[in-house]
Amino acid sequence: MQGKVDCVIGLCFGDEGKGKIVDYLSKNYDIVARFGGGDNAGHTIFKDEQKIVLHLIPSGILNSKIINIIGNGVVINPIAFKKEVEMLESLGVDVRSRLIISDKAHIITPIHIATDLDNEKVAKIGTTGKGIGPCYTDKISRNGLRVCDLLADDLIIKNLSDLDLPNISEFIEACEYLKMFNIQKTEILINEYLNQGKSILAEGAQAAGLDVEFGTYPYVTSSSTTTSGVCSGLGISPKKIGTIYGIIKAYTTRVGNGPFITELFDDVGECISKKGQEVGSTTGRKRRCGWLDLDQVKYASMICGVDEIIMTKSDVLSGFEKVKIYNNGQYSELQGWHSLSATHIPSEFLNFIEVIESSLHIPITTVSTGVGRDDIVKLEKQLQK
Ligand code: IMP
Ligand code: MG
Repeated sequence: MQGKVDCVIGLCFGDEGKGKIVDYLSKNYDIVARFGGGDNAGHTIFKDEQKIVLHLIPSGILNSKIINIIGNGVVINPIAFKKEVEMLESLGVDVRSRLIISDKAHIITPIHIATDLDNEKVAKIGTTGKGIGPCYTDKISRNGLRVCDLLADDLIIKNLSDLDLPNISEFIEACEYLKMFNIQKTEILINEYLNQGKSILAEGAQAAGLDVEFGTYPYVTSSSTTTSGVCSGLGISPKKIGTIYGIIKAYTTRVGNGPFITELFDDVGECISKKGQEVGSTTGRKRRCGWLDLDQVKYASMICGVDEIIMTKSDVLSGFEKVKIYNNGQYSELQGWHSLSATHIPSEFLNFIEVIESSLHIPITTVSTGVGRDDIVKLEKQLQK
């Protein structure tokens, strides 16, 4: 039997909790693969009450049975990569034996970072300043530097060392470090794995609202964050795509600039921000908070072909007298709930879920009820009780 590539895709503006969901789902998979973005992402996972933030390395890395792949669609900052590997190794994670890197992934250089920061002075997108846009710009304009170039030609690294940039020696050292990892034509490997019947989970970064094609352009990131990005970012046919999980929070957040219809500027927004600890895990910026924007979720689900919805951070909305959902250009107000946990799902929350499901015509199958690895519940079981 041919294996499939199931996908975890954020449906709003990022930070939907994809890291935790990938960590939760990954026990059912042989391989976890990142298909796009770079260290602009911040995927937070709690392991034994320890907070681990991953930026570049797939969220399956904590599981010793899983092969993790950084696909061709990803852009790699070697300095950030080295730091992340060292952080994981200090926690006893054997990264080297579990990670395979595409030879076609592009390299973020110090020049890309300087250009990103420079562009921001004019464009004011509110980027993460990680050099993502300029790196993808060079990729599309055929001026990019790829992982295979580092392997093929020592001259490239030598030429880079002649550049007059403050951290160039750190960059060169990190490139040499990256070269020592398991680098392969991952598109061939992935298709071989599928032929062997292995299961793959594709881990999205950012989200549909930040997609370069279908996001709130120009306030977007520079990659394809939707399901089509899985095919181009890993080298698989659309026919190989299996279940598509769309991830949403019980409310909406956005970090950086750009339109945000349901943004709250009052005490409610402040309360959600505090309870949800809505601070960017990559840049430390405060995230903007607002009610759930179902119109965005509906649009993103259509573009991504979502089969199932997984909702995170439902516990953060506990304690509000009323909660709101934005749908078809207007708000509806629903009864709130006092408390919620994996073992206690109140009827008001189930009503909130049903209203969303009936509008989207997509089932919400799983709900995350807290930061811990056990704070998660399959809803069908809950409903059957
Ligand atoms: P860039 O990806 O650094 O170019 O930033 C472009 C936009 O995407 C900015 O609004 C960022 O705040 C946003 N962004 C990029 N990565 C993430 C993420 O992982 N979570 C949330 N927002 C992100
Ligand atoms: Mg994040």
